[in-house]
Amino acid sequence: MPGKTLISPSILSSDFSKLGDEVEAIDRAGADWIHLDVMDGHFVPNITFGPQIIKAIRPRSKKRFDCHLMIAPADPYLAAFAEAGADLITVHAEAGPHLDRSLQTIRNLGKKAGVAINPATPEIAIEHVLDRLDLVLVMTVNPGFGGQAFIPATVEKVRRVKAMIGGRKIAIEVDGGITRETAPLVVAAGADVLVAGSAVFTGDAGAYARNIGAIRTAADAAVGRMA
Ligand code: DX5
Ligand code: ZN
Repeated sequence: MPGKTLISPSILSSDFSKLGDEVEAIDRAGADWIHLDVMDGHFVPNITFGPQIIKAIRPRSKKRFDCHLMIAPADPYLAAFAEAGADLITVHAEAGPHLDRSLQTIRNLGKKAGVAINPATPEIAIEHVLDRLDLVLVMTVNPGFGGQAFIPATVEKVRRVKAMIGGRKIAIEVDGGITRETAPLVVAAGADVLVAGSAVFTGDAGAYARNIGAIRTAADAAVGRMA
């Protein structure tokens, strides 16, 4: 949907002891969105942070806060994430029995609504909620941890989601194992937004811009755009 490939660095791989500074650094380094991985130790085998932390870092960037909820249930917490400053709230299709209701709630809170699907979940799971969506997040690893290897079978899923979306204004985001090597594969298949954690937060803050630039250049080359 967007005209160019967007990069949404995941602060999961940043230095949590100076989270606010890391958000500012990644903003200055050219991040388009800021990706926030919320994990509950139940839906996924890891625990990260919740709305209070998001509220605390909100003033450090004006960029879109792209909030990926890996929590079950999600519904009781949607308002808290909206109030904390999330601009886009993504829930997992696997996280609850009432996906349609969750998406309605997000939009009623005045936020953009996204749905994520795990590597083993077929894209058909979201067919009947497409008109409630601003974004589909195709997980390219099993959620829970940064630094995992990209799962190649997800490329075909991105292609199928792209075909399913048709002319609707819905962005396709991918998350997990995105590097300058894998970015061209998913962009060629139709991805619009690339989440990257470990590939961005490596080296000192000065390296972040180069890391983002390398992914962007590789992505743009894959669809024949000038860097
Ligand atoms: C995984 C998270 C990702 C993760 C990506 O559960 O949703 O956002 O931080 O990290 P990398 O880019 O290191 O695979
Ligand atoms: Zn994520």
